[in-house]
Amino acid sequence: MQVLVTGAKGMLGGDLCPVFAKKHQVVATDLQELDVRDPRAVFAIIEENKPDLVLHLAALTNVDGCQEMKDEAYLTNAIGAKNVALACARYAACMVYLSTGSVFDGAKNEPYTEFDTPHPSSEYSKAKYQGELFVRDSLREYYIVRAGWMFGGGVRDKKFVGKIVSLAKQGRKLQVVDDKFGSPTYTNDLAQGILKLVETGWYGTYHMANLGCCSRFEYAQKVLNLVDRSNCSVEPVSSEAFPLPAHRPRMEAIRNYMLQLLGLNWMRPWEEALSDYIKNRLLANR
Ligand SMILES: NC(=O)c1ccc[n+]([C@@H]2O[C@H](COP(=O)([O-])OP(=O)(O)OC[C@H]3O[C@@H](n4cnc5c(N)ncnc54)[C@H](OP(=O)(O)O)[C@@H]3O)[C@@H](O)[C@H]2O)c1
Repeated sequence: MQVLVTGAKGMLGGDLCPVFAKKHQVVATDLQELDVRDPRAVFAIIEENKPDLVLHLAALTNVDGCQEMKDEAYLTNAIGAKNVALACARYAACMVYLSTGSVFDGAKNEPYTEFDTPHPSSEYSKAKYQGELFVRDSLREYYIVRAGWMFGGGVRDKKFVGKIVSLAKQGRKLQVVDDKFGSPTYTNDLAQGILKLVETGWYGTYHMANLGCCSRFEYAQKVLNLVDRSNCSVEPVSSEAFPLPAHRPRMEAIRNYMLQLLGLNWMRPWEEALSDYIKNRLLANR
């Protein structure tokens, strides 16, 4: 297949591009090569490259930034997805749209399945959900893949796991919230899972996270257990201790129910994936 990737230089793109490149021709684009906010540019690149599949990862992922810059959030995360979906419809390409478990309101006491109704609360999640609706309305051949709290990126990891590891090295006393729950998702596992999914032709909306659910505090504890934490401690706190511009749902965890029902749930438990990532990638290359 000819595969075109948007947002290829991001955390997920860094793993997804090499995974797909082992089997397919990959054209990797990021903001410099293709600004997804520009419909003419999107149509032109898809017309020129004639991809069979477009993996649409490009997004503004700073949740608080999106809250403060609403127009930018909707332009990139919702209209950007619409531009890609319409171009895929015009040039007969299949589309994969990366979405998020934060499209739900968090009121449930257990992980969300694909059969629960989204009700996003932050501007980031609302824009990502509008992106889902545009994809669904424009295409028949699409996969919407909702992921959990992603970790990955190796030496370039500046997100939750990377930050905890850096702070642990500095011997800092950490405070981490214990009232927000999610499903950690290793970008490498997600990339392999997406590759397998697109080979089925079973279009639709899927949850794809590593198995299990934890609080941010349990997540941080697990990270610290996997690195040298001799002079670092972590204390659980309420999210009221850290007021943020964007609301975070209490429950963002997702269950891969569609994959499970179809016998396609290859994802491993999050603790196993995290241990693999930290030992074999993060620490091995630092
Ligand atoms: N990270 C998570 O925990 C998580 C969870 C669930 C779903 N997702 C979704 O998964 C996808 C990938 O996430 P990620 O964590 O890999 O994100 P990321 O690291 O922030 O990467 C996103 C990439 O998109 C690029 N981009 C931003 N605006 C663009 C535009 N207008 N046109 C083209 N490219 C643009 C960014 O470039 P710059 O860096 O130059 O801005 C960046 O390289 C996103 O759609 C995200 O919403 C992420």
